[in-house]
Amino acid sequence: MRHLLIAGGAGFIGSNFVHYMLEKYDDYTIIVFDKLTYAGRLENLERCRSNPRFRFIQGDICDMAAVREAVQRHDIDSIINFAAETHVDRSIMEPDAVVTTNINGTWVLLEVARELKLERFHQISTDEVYGAIPAPSRSKEGDPLEPRSPYSASKAGAEHLVYAYFITYGLPVTTTRGSNNIGPFHYPEKAVPLFTTNAIENIPLPIYGDGLQMRDYQYVLDHCEGIDLVLHKGALGEVYNVGTEVETPNIEMAHKILDLLGKPRSLIQHVVDRAGHDRRYALDCAKLRALGWRSQHSFDQALEKTVRWFVANEGWWRPIKSGEYLDYYRKQYEERG
Ligand code: NAD
Ligand code: DAU
Repeated sequence: MRHLLIAGGAGFIGSNFVHYMLEKYDDYTIIVFDKLTYAGRLENLERCRSNPRFRFIQGDICDMAAVREAVQRHDIDSIINFAAETHVDRSIMEPDAVVTTNINGTWVLLEVARELKLERFHQISTDEVYGAIPAPSRSKEGDPLEPRSPYSASKAGAEHLVYAYFITYGLPVTTTRGSNNIGPFHYPEKAVPLFTTNAIENIPLPIYGDGLQMRDYQYVLDHCEGIDLVLHKGALGEVYNVGTEVETPNIEMAHKILDLLGKPRSLIQHVVDRAGHDRRYALDCAKLRALGWRSQHSFDQALEKTVRWFVANEGWWRPIKSGEYLDYYRKQYEERG
């Protein structure tokens, strides 16, 4: 495994993974294949633009000819699929894009990987495929998938295709299911970067419902290390959970952001809840720990680093919070009161 095609590598986790891999391995070439949707940004890859082991291709994972051409031209031996429509609220407003990209796009990548006999196909999946998990249960990799939103259902569908290609065609696949990531380049529609940037701008922080929903917020580079380990030591056909195994209620996360920024709690505004909102996700990560992985950041450390990054990088997020973003924001939050 030396020549990687990173689908969706201009997004939040994908771009962090590209930097991580280029810095860690000096004999890997990385080809980012990304459609550059509203969430994909070339600025995220600025740090490696001049690296001779890096190339960027703008393309849609649903376009089989374009994917095939990229794989052949760059002698790709492995595909890592980060490309997806990733926002649950957008998937509720407009479910068509998650079905097209997350399911059909994953199928196209699998077909090309099969046709060209690639060494590895790795799918980036999510803890949301397990559905809402009542305390004190934790999801293990063999548990049933019970997704409840269009986004999580599309990610579960994609996972089923990945496994089907392993069983039916013997394609060498692995899958990771990550919990909520936070860190640099996180698009400010997601809760942590939205609350952080709103707080900096003294705009209310919209908490859905009572704010007691629990999420396992992990630092993005811990997730990247987990993916790297599974790529190199994971068993083919297997799935690995990646998370801190510590859950935090959203309201507590919002309080911590306000405290870190020295802002008043009066900025918190409870708004109408997300439809079908999953109350809690919780992973059991023993299988990945058995390969030698440990999460390096506690929630507090991850959050502090993240908030500091947003304070220091206003030039990254301020231009995003304009134009199309403002239309989306109005549509999403006006209805919530
Ligand atoms: P993101 O929304 O920041 O980035 C997604 C990237 O995919 C963007 O660069 C976008 O341009 C690209 N993309 C979208 N549709 C495409 C298409 N049709 N063809 C090519 N590129 C396309 O997402 P993220 O938060 O970085 O998530 C990356 C992956 O990790 C996704 O598969 C997501 O389901 C999964 N995941 C995310 C989290 C999280 O907390 N963010 C947690 C677990 C798993
Ligand atoms: O769990 C992994 C998943 O985490 C990934 O698969 C998804 O791609 C990623 O978007 C994320 O999904 P969530 O829905 O958990 O993340 P989000 O940041 O949208 O919301 C986090 C929590 O905060 C969730 O309980 C909803 C709540 N929330 C979110 C927003 C945007 C609010 O209370 N207010 C908000 O304005």
